[in-house]
Amino acid sequence: MTSAPLRFGLVGTGHWARIAHAPALAAAEGIELAAVWGRDPQAAARLAADFDAPAYQDLDAFLAAADGVAFAVPPDVQAPIAATAARAGKHLLLEKPVAISEAQADDLVEAVAEGQVASVVFFTLRFRAEMRAWLAEVTARGGWLGGAGSWFGSSLLASSPFNTPWRRDKGALWDIAPHVISVLWAVLGPVTSVTADAGPADVSHLILHHQGGPSSTVTVTQSGGEAAAEFECYVWGASGRAVAPAFTGDPLPPMRTALAELSGNIRSGRTEHPCDVRFGRDVGHVIAEAQRQIDRRHQAGG
Ligand SMILES: NC(=O)c1ccc[n+]([C@@H]2O[C@H](COP(=O)([O-])OP(=O)(O)OC[C@H]3O[C@@H](n4cnc5c(N)ncnc54)[C@H](OP(=O)(O)O)[C@@H]3O)[C@@H](O)[C@H]2O)c1
Repeated sequence: MTSAPLRFGLVGTGHWARIAHAPALAAAEGIELAAVWGRDPQAAARLAADFDAPAYQDLDAFLAAADGVAFAVPPDVQAPIAATAARAGKHLLLEKPVAISEAQADDLVEAVAEGQVASVVFFTLRFRAEMRAWLAEVTARGGWLGGAGSWFGSSLLASSPFNTPWRRDKGALWDIAPHVISVLWAVLGPVTSVTADAGPADVSHLILHHQGGPSSTVTVTQSGGEAAAEFECYVWGASGRAVAPAFTGDPLPPMRTALAELSGNIRSGRTEHPCDVRFGRDVGHVIAEAQRQIDRRHQAGG
């Protein structure tokens, strides 16, 4: 027996929507890209036409046309629309960070519970096949005492298509630290506390304590420049040091995995996923606390 495709709507018409969400949704097995919404109707019409999907100007009509909604908009835009969608019973493919405001992140988690919908947050690294293989190997080995991760991105270069207002405002702490934390969290356990400081050039440094004792450090910037741009991560313990696989840029294979797992959950009625909205909220709380500490040091002249 074949079941009808799940209808997905896409919120957002920017660079990431065009290179990741739209092509992945349009090509995913068992999914139909059924609606596109953006605040710029012309951009929505263009993106929708390129992927053979209808564009909507009215958000309620857009939601009515979808079983699930994928988001490619800034976090403070995503969170309230996603909460409305979840309360209307729509499943969610979210982007990291799930929100900027902790209250909005908490409300989104509540909305997902109320709507009894499935959610996946696209922590890209966690959906890459090489990273999954590495995580399976290191978590099976266990005994890790600590780790370190860094990501020197280049999104704040004038030439970057990712140089958008919210990234300039919030920086790498909000944009890429969630990715690094999501990997260390998977190996070393839930983060129980963070100590944070910042340097010039959008650099943030975090010291994380993980449940059960391990600790780790994270350094991120979006001003790395293309030559310095790199993700690196390792964990260490009595059995040695295990280095995570390097990052490669193609977003489509991990996005296909995220969509396959989300649609599998929708079809089987499961709402839990290792990278679901609750995990996204928990990572966001670590980032928000780090931001508070950095702001306090800055105000104190540190
Ligand atoms: N998982 C990953 O590896 C990864 C990689 C890249 C991006 N992302 C995430 O994907 C999301 C989108 O990123 P992006 O690079 O495309 O840039 P972005 O600046 O986050 O989003 C651009 C889109 O958001 C729309 N937008 C901006 N402000 C809005 C508002 N107030 N109301 C409604 N729409 C608004 C823009 O519309 P206009 O065109 O009209 O301005 C455009 O459609 C972000 O959450 C980012 O974190 C994730």
